[in-house]
Amino acid sequence: MKNKIYIETYGCQMNFADSEIVSSILNKAGYTNSRTPDDADYILINTCAIRDNAEQRIRKRLRELKALQRQRPTLKIGILGCMAERLQKQLMEEEDNVSFIVGPDAYRNLPSMLSHIAQGERLAETMLSETETYDDIEPVRYDSNGITAYISIMRGCQNYCAYCVVPYTRGRERSRDPQTIVNEARKLVENGYREVTLLGQNVNSYHWESAKRNAESEELDSHTPSLISVGFPELLDMVASIDPRLRVRFATSHPKDLSDNLLHVMAKHDNICKCIHLPVQSGSARMLKLMNRHYSPEWYLDRIDAIRRILPSCSITTDVIAGFCSETEEDHQATLEMFRRVRYDYAYMFKFSMRPNTYAAKHLQDDIPDDVKTRRLEEIINLQGQIALENNQKEIGKTYEVLVEGVSHRSDQQLFGRNSQNKVIVFDRGDIQPGQYVHVRVTRCTAATLIGTVTTKQ
Ligand code: SAH
Ligand code: SF4
Ligand code: F3S
Repeated sequence: MKNKIYIETYGCQMNFADSEIVSSILNKAGYTNSRTPDDADYILINTCAIRDNAEQRIRKRLRELKALQRQRPTLKIGILGCMAERLQKQLMEEEDNVSFIVGPDAYRNLPSMLSHIAQGERLAETMLSETETYDDIEPVRYDSNGITAYISIMRGCQNYCAYCVVPYTRGRERSRDPQTIVNEARKLVENGYREVTLLGQNVNSYHWESAKRNAESEELDSHTPSLISVGFPELLDMVASIDPRLRVRFATSHPKDLSDNLLHVMAKHDNICKCIHLPVQSGSARMLKLMNRHYSPEWYLDRIDAIRRILPSCSITTDVIAGFCSETEEDHQATLEMFRRVRYDYAYMFKFSMRPNTYAAKHLQDDIPDDVKTRRLEEIINLQGQIALENNQKEIGKTYEVLVEGVSHRSDQQLFGRNSQNKVIVFDRGDIQPGQYVHVRVTRCTAATLIGTVTTKQ
């Protein structure tokens, strides 16, 4: 039987988590994972559509895979994820070596699709759902370090930021049953995992209400209220309470929903990591309005102040876009000023890429010349590089608890791990094993990495 699958994943953490769900669905149907494309019967490419260059990269990869198909004509290639959703049948027409296209809410159809494809058909399934959360599927952690894992807690997004394709590729926002999230985290702990990251495009707008609420309202008494309606702070509290040795992270938070209540829950649990990813996108009030972000620079800075007040040790990271429609030098300066004010520990920095069908594509002009976008992006990158280095230099001499994740990429005599603030720390291997917690005193740094010496092991 032809049953080996190879999954290649692009894009955000949600896509990586989805690939583990795809793997679970197909493993149950008798397919096994292959570690390389070379001996696979089916290659599944889980794609991203966030910027044009993400899609170009995948188009290039498809051309490379044609060579493999020439050697093995029975090899079938499928496209999953956001680009599959966005381009649907267009991909089927343009990429003649692709046999199946599956959108993010249609993965349960994969086993039946593969059986038809094996007989020579070409198929596309891209219906989005208002309810699918895959909450009964236990992800198969086929590419895991056995220490850290992602848990999707919600799907979709309906914020409709003017530049963003995600609401069109992932559909409406829906939250997963909290009990299934807690069960999944508990199982991970039992299997030796030491860190979970709760994932959503907008995790802090997580909101779950029991569907049984009306039917059973007469029977529900005061012992069960917490399961009737659960918001993100309550969910975080539930997951953090499972085991103090389990670290809990989450991403991504939207500034508009970042409540003091959430920050207090983070303060209450040592094992909730003190790192908040809070995409700013721009420092200009006019840009934020045009982007439909639902907050002003003042609101954003007030939330930063709240983090600094309630969680003094917390690191803050961000996403930013340079050169959005009609951005002036003044708007750009406001972004640089925001970076100077907040002093982020890390930033993902992007050049604006116009995406078809978004509000921007329909109503705005992509009017900033590419060389201007590039120059503004470089200015942000240079400023942020300087700030990250200065922030890291302040860490020298401090000691942190580090969860050891693996062998350093630079030298097999060194290990790396992260502190609660999500900063990577490298140190000598000694007899330490991945999965252990150690205390490390920081002795040196670069803009991206801390280097230190182990003081105690646990
Ligand atoms: N849900 C998250 C981010 C999802 S996409 C949030 O709301 O913050 C990750 C990042 O990609 C975004 O934060 C944004 O900075 C960037 N991005 C999204 N669309 C883009 C586009 N059209 N061009 C350039 N960058 C974009
Ligand atoms: Fe895109 Fe905005 Fe939703 Fe984030 S919140 S996924 S940027 S629409
Ligand atoms: Fe990309 Fe889709 Fe994630 S567009 S960033 S893979 S939600």
